[in-house]
Amino acid sequence: MPAGSPATPSVLRERAYGALAAARLRTASLTDVVSDPDLTAQHSPLMSPLVWDLAHIGNQEELWLLRRVEGREAMRPEIDSLYDAFVHPRSERPKLPLLGPSEARRYAAEVRGRVLDLLERTPLEGSPLLDGGFAFGMIAQHEQQHDETMLITHQLRQGPAVLAAPDPDAPYDPPPAREVLVPGGPFTMGTSTEGWALDNERPAHPRETEPFFLDTVPVTNAAFQAFIEDGGYREPRWWAAEGWEQVRRHGIGAPLFWYREAGQWLRRRFGVAEPVPPEEPVLHVSWYEADAWARWAGRRLPTEAEWEKAARYDPVSGRSRRYPWGDADPAPELANLGQRHLRPARAGSYPAGASPLGVRQLIGDVWEWTASDFLPYPGFRAFPYREYSEVFFGSAHKVLRGGSFAVDSAACRGTFRNWDLPVRRQIFSGFRTARDA
Ligand code: AVJ
Ligand code: FE
Repeated sequence: MPAGSPATPSVLRERAYGALAAARLRTASLTDVVSDPDLTAQHSPLMSPLVWDLAHIGNQEELWLLRRVEGREAMRPEIDSLYDAFVHPRSERPKLPLLGPSEARRYAAEVRGRVLDLLERTPLEGSPLLDGGFAFGMIAQHEQQHDETMLITHQLRQGPAVLAAPDPDAPYDPPPAREVLVPGGPFTMGTSTEGWALDNERPAHPRETEPFFLDTVPVTNAAFQAFIEDGGYREPRWWAAEGWEQVRRHGIGAPLFWYREAGQWLRRRFGVAEPVPPEEPVLHVSWYEADAWARWAGRRLPTEAEWEKAARYDPVSGRSRRYPWGDADPAPELANLGQRHLRPARAGSYPAGASPLGVRQLIGDVWEWTASDFLPYPGFRAFPYREYSEVFFGSAHKVLRGGSFAVDSAACRGTFRNWDLPVRRQIFSGFRTARDA
């Protein structure tokens, strides 16, 4: 539904109900396929045990919908600090007296029962948390974000595959050009009208860009392999100082999960070993690897504003739209979202999802690193809590845009902003490049 279009209370209620239900089905699918010991184990120091995510999802839902919106007392005040991401870092979480798997499931289900009851009765207007069903949408997005986090934990987990999905059968036709020219001038960045947009996407504001060229498709495994074979990981001049430091200290020589066997590049993907597919967008690279590849190629990463202009600006109307293809919600023929597949589609897929200028796969497939630090837009106001975005603003985190195959459409828009440390590579990250015109 287009941003700002009027929605009746029953439509809003249906939308909130649908988003919550879809998130819970996905959470169940990610946690029901592993044993209890597997749920409580820590598969990587970078990640929480899956059972932490499960109860944290319920705890945030209780906090925002039952306590803040409905005004109830805490159901289990003694567990709150265990599930506060700012009290205990991920690496310490396995040692905490966490709820066990069945207790965590029961707690999350009990919260959800009360939330659905609340959703039936509460007016979806009259306060900033209720207007347009925002708090319900925020909580559905929060659960979907943790579902992506849990999928990353699955990828890091050793052992035989437990997840399965069909390979992408996406429409494909080779893009007519390697890059497109995005004209300079002003455009509207961010949004003030998208109902479930989070605080860091707001408000809409004018931005200028110089004209620039942008890759039509994300950088592929084959293109990345050319960098490896050219000695890219051994050549300091391509690397930012801290990136070079990371490469040397950890002996990095390829994207995470790649390994070489009998003269061939293989990768491990959700417990399956396979040859690296040359035409697929590269996945599991850090910002430093993306930045180094771009420098080697005589190019650069796009800024966040350039990325959003390419994804939203309609040169005919001058308007910024919700998605590259227009204002319609995502659909399977437009983008690879929602964990329908456990991998990106090959570069050049989804011609129907292209931007007016012909840029493909901006939404879905792989998160795209941008050159930009995670900073507030002019007029930013933290809502409803500082710890979602505000405490992360600054030069430590780089912005990623567009969403991966693991992002649900409820948590994906042309304005959506993700961020992470530039060393991170376990996330579903890739990139495309730009150059000045
Ligand atoms: C927006 C993905 C960086 O996972 O740290 C989840 C989302 N915030 N719970 C994260 C989030 C609070 C956040 N990212
Ligand atoms: Fe969270």
